[in-house]
Amino acid sequence: MSYLALKHIHVTLVVVSVLFFILRFFWRSIDAQIAKQKWVKIAPHIIDTLLLVSIVALVWQGLVLGSAWYMNKTIGLIGYIVFGIVAMRAQTALWRYIGFFVALGWIMMLLHIAYAKVPLFG
Ligand code: HEM
Repeated sequence: MSYLALKHIHVTLVVVSVLFFILRFFWRSIDAQIAKQKWVKIAPHIIDTLLLVSIVALVWQGLVLGSAWYMNKTIGLIGYIVFGIVAMRAQTALWRYIGFFVALGWIMMLLHIAYAKVPLFG
């Protein structure tokens, strides 16, 4: 598969992952029944696994961007995952909102690094 095709798959999976995260947070916030359905709980794991596969494949083929860039993206991904868990699992509304907005902040940082091709730190 070409590098460009992989990159398109990667970006598509990023969009699906973030949109589904926002949707799940919204469903949970209004205590919607759908948030408790099994497929809603399983789908993010499938999406995120595919996202990880796209990352491994891109890194495998790419290696044209400096190691600080990859390190920045990895830290950003960890930030998104950790605060995403806080957003979905915290017991108080305050912490759920903190988790949600900080996770989105990491996504903004990741998009900036992805398009600017320059690391923010390191
Ligand atoms: C949720 C986390 C992530 C988001 C939001 C994200 C976002 C993006 C976006 C929007 C692009 C397209 C950039 C462009 O078209 O110029 C991209 C490309 C790429 N991403 Fe990610 N990414 C994430 C995680 C990662 C991680 C953890 C890695 C590797 C450590 C990674 C490696 C790459 C590579 C190698 C490219 C292609 C860069 C290029 O050749 O221009 N991504 N990412």
